Amino acid sequence: MSVTVGIVGGGGWLGSAIAEKGLGAGVLNASSLVVSSRSRRGDRLAPWPEVTWTSDNAELARRSGIVILSVRPEQFGQLELDLQDRLVVSVMAGISMATLHRTTRSDRIVRAMPNAAAEIGRSYTPWFASPRVVEADRLFVAALFSSCGEHDEVESEQQLDYLSGLSGTGPAYPALLANAMLDHARRAGIAEQVAIKAVRAVICGATLLMDNDAFDPAGIVEAFAAYRGVTAAGLAAMIESGLPESVGAGLSAAAAATATMAKAYDA
Ligand SMILES: NC(=O)c1ccc[n+]([C@@H]2O[C@H](COP(=O)([O-])OP(=O)(O)OC[C@H]3O[C@@H](n4cnc5c(N)ncnc54)[C@H](OP(=O)(O)O)[C@@H]3O)[C@@H](O)[C@H]2O)c1
Repeated sequence: MSVTVGIVGGGGWLGSAIAEKGLGAGVLNASSLVVSSRSRRGDRLAPWPEVTWTSDNAELARRSGIVILSVRPEQFGQLELDLQDRLVVSVMAGISMATLHRTTRSDRIVRAMPNAAAEIGRSYTPWFASPRVVEADRLFVAALFSSCGEHDEVESEQQLDYLSGLSGTGPAYPALLANAMLDHARRAGIAEQVAIKAVRAVICGATLLMDNDAFDPAGIVEAFAAYRGVTAAGLAAMIESGLPESVGAGLSAAAAATATMAKAYDA
């Protein structure tokens, strides 16, 4: 595409993953990509020496027709960006449309929430567009986040905030489960390397087994429960001791934290 794209914070974890995937898929063009960071990093972009690096966000804004904001939420307050007439795509958690509009002066804004699996092209990225976003903007956003995995435009900012606490969290929740299993195996006296292999097989193997179009976790639970064997006993005890409720409480807390964060930045 010919329009210049700028990524503020493009040397960071998520920004550089999006840049790498977008460049790899041809959605971004190295010679019309400007990336900013205060201290240049982002080895991921080394294969594309034509990418322009700058520490001057005003220069990035001047040169770009589309600006992706990928600094940490607490760093956003220090940016002074006039992005009027630009498409702004924010991947920052908990920075609302209202705050983005007030601080950038853009009225074509997309809020998107990829996750850490963007770096392996397996993110799920829900996104929400402000009313002035046009079809061409939508096509760009869809192509960009397709290059990072799957994506959907959602109906409301509230849904995006909820999903920030669900899919935006990437591997964190499965990692919590893996860690709890590892701790338990250690306490049962299982050798460290054996425990690691066993838990990795459960978490990573299960992920691959469930990764198909039929994606049916409830069906898998039912099928194992029907055996009335070892796994069924484990499942029953986990359910009885409140695992589903704990997961629900965690997701509600994450959604509430996003809303609280958004209010704090709105103020
Ligand atoms: N990582 C994830 O899995 C994930 C998932 C969903 C959403 N997000 C969102 O993505 C955003 C970035 O997260 P991250 O994990 O990629 O953080 P990160 O690795 O710390 O990246 C932030 C980048 O912003 C740069 N930066 C900070 N201030 C800057 C400024 N004034 N001008 C230019 N660059 C600046 C930093 O580089 P310098 O310090 O060198 O300037 C850094 O490279 C966050 O808002 C987060 O909510 C992240």
